[in-house]
Amino acid sequence: MEKIKTVIIGMGRMGKTRYEAMKRHGGFEITAICDTAAHNMDGYKEKKYERWQECIDETEPKAVIVCTYNAAIPEIVCYALEKGIAVFSEKPPGRNLEDALKMKEAYERAEDPVLKFGFNHRYHNSVMEARALIDSKILGEVICARGVYGKAGSPNFETEWRNDTSISGGGIMLDQGIHMLDLMYYFLGEFTEIQSSVDQLVWKDMPTEDSAFSILRTGDGKVASLHSSAIQWRHKFSLDLICTKGFISLNGLLTSTKSYGEERISYYRKDLEQKTGGLGKPMEHTMCFNEDQSWDYEMEEFYEAVRGKKAVVQGKIEDAVNLMKMLDNIYSV
Ligand SMILES: NC(=O)c1ccc[n+]([C@@H]2O[C@H](COP(=O)([O-])OP(=O)(O)OC[C@H]3O[C@@H](n4cnc5c(N)ncnc54)[C@H](O)[C@@H]3O)[C@@H](O)[C@H]2O)c1
Repeated sequence: MEKIKTVIIGMGRMGKTRYEAMKRHGGFEITAICDTAAHNMDGYKEKKYERWQECIDETEPKAVIVCTYNAAIPEIVCYALEKGIAVFSEKPPGRNLEDALKMKEAYERAEDPVLKFGFNHRYHNSVMEARALIDSKILGEVICARGVYGKAGSPNFETEWRNDTSISGGGIMLDQGIHMLDLMYYFLGEFTEIQSSVDQLVWKDMPTEDSAFSILRTGDGKVASLHSSAIQWRHKFSLDLICTKGFISLNGLLTSTKSYGEERISYYRKDLEQKTGGLGKPMEHTMCFNEDQSWDYEMEEFYEAVRGKKAVVQGKIEDAVNLMKMLDNIYSV
């Protein structure tokens, strides 16, 4: 198996998660890791750096994995692209649309660039099943969606970097809601009309929102509602996809904390003649999953892109820019 010489910048929770996924994959040779907080690299045998530029310049990797705070993402991504290095970066693609556009410009200037953003929810088994169902057309066209993605903040929520606007760029909608927005965009298309309520409902002195409701409409009239919440005291992931001839319901999501419940997808065919059940209670088809393979599927796609065997399909720069455009719109209420 060809080994890709790789460095990871940012060894917090996600850096470590990506490290493990690359080790499981076997096609990456992690030559160095980097974090401004040296203690986050304790226990690792790879060469350690505290300055990302030095790490890239000295080790000359073929790929770089960026898992820093949002504010540092654009500079590192642009620098690596300019050096002809393949980049896998965590979401969000920077703090705002301007950051995303900077990376798009660097991408367009680079020769044969590889750039992929970590919108890993597209690789959850329930989401992949939903995609296959929609593509099969057996439920007709997806026409509207309802999504709730909520977590319970944290004990020091107000002081986390995630809620320091200069570092993060936004609150729960940018941090977690972006995954739900990405899924809605994936299934329904780009939303061009957006109405939102972005609020501090519990953490009133925080610079960022702890709740954001949005009503979104695509150019061809598909509609979605999204609630992104840090005040969902019992964690929740729920996405309903309503189609012309049926209905898909995704509930729960496998994560490391297991706090979003079992991951399941159910679908139902429209049955007004009541051939399969009572009115409004058609036959249910359900699949449950007990293993989260999203990190592995995602790394495999990146690996094949770096080797030049396949193009990046999920998490492309065009999608990153579109998402940040929609988020700018959500925040501009
Ligand atoms: N794909 C997903 O599902 C997912 C999930 C959680 C977080 N994320 C994203 O991953 C990124 C990191 O989040 P996290 O939860 O791991 O946060 P974290 O706080 O656990 O880790 C971030 C790490 O980056 C380091 N760092 C910050 N700036 C740096 C710089 N300039 N150079 C080197 N190191 C730097 C910090 O010291 C810290 O160790 C964020 O952009 C976040 O939005 C993605």
